[in-house]
Amino acid sequence: MKKGKKLYEGKAKIIYATNDKNLVIQYFKDDATAFNNQKKSTIEGKGVLNNRISEHILSNLSQIGIKNHLVKRLNMREQIIKLVEIIPIEFIVRNVATGSITKRLGIEDGTVLKEPLIEYCLKDDKLGDPLISEEHILAFDWASKTEIDKVKKMILRINDFMIGMFRGVGIKLIDFKLEFGRVKIDGKNEVILADEISPDTCRLWDSITEKKLDKDRFRKDLGDLIPAYTEVAKRLGILHEQSNVSAVNVTKLSSVKRKKK
Ligand code: TMP
Repeated sequence: MKKGKKLYEGKAKIIYATNDKNLVIQYFKDDATAFNNQKKSTIEGKGVLNNRISEHILSNLSQIGIKNHLVKRLNMREQIIKLVEIIPIEFIVRNVATGSITKRLGIEDGTVLKEPLIEYCLKDDKLGDPLISEEHILAFDWASKTEIDKVKKMILRINDFMIGMFRGVGIKLIDFKLEFGRVKIDGKNEVILADEISPDTCRLWDSITEKKLDKDRFRKDLGDLIPAYTEVAKRLGILHEQSNVSAVNVTKLSSVKRKKK
């Protein structure tokens, strides 16, 4: 697999072409942004952890039949993924109200929702990813009714699976963001899960202490983001409990490897 030119650079990831027209490389950066890019920083080791955590979650989702773009992890920072046409919608799933919904609708922080709530945001940084309704999606052809129905079914299965997976390791899945993409598989048009699932895109609270183990540590200046993401990775069994691999060491290892190439 040969790495080709940069196709796209987002806030936390870069996509590179490969010599296979159907596959691209997704590179996880250490950059962190919040509030639509108004707050920015670089947190050494974040990309390495998100690469591993997202690989773990997406490969587990494949095993329960949720088709997604992950082909395989290549190294500390990169994975090979299927090239998809991203549907320009951020699908937000909430189990507990926190973050923007508490401000927007005056809902008390920490309110447990009767059922998972799906919200749609238009993926457009210039507009600040505005909240939209299903009617907007259909009116402006951002996705078809069939696509939305398929995505909603997938979202509920993903949410059930992830709630259980995290609960098993003492973490509450509060909310998260998903993206989906269109791809042709064996001549058939399909909608599959894309992007990443990581502490950058989920809110994860320790089940007992409610300590935040996600990007809110950056958004709210709580500090210790790397130890929190490392804790998530350890609990999921991705990093060994006893091995004292700090993400910073992992980053150093990966940069040594890169320089050798
Ligand atoms: P919100 O409360 O700020 O709307 O965020 C809801 C969830 O979606 C939370 O887990 C963070 C995630 N999210 C992203 O992954 N990317 C984004 O651009 C935004 C706004 C939220």
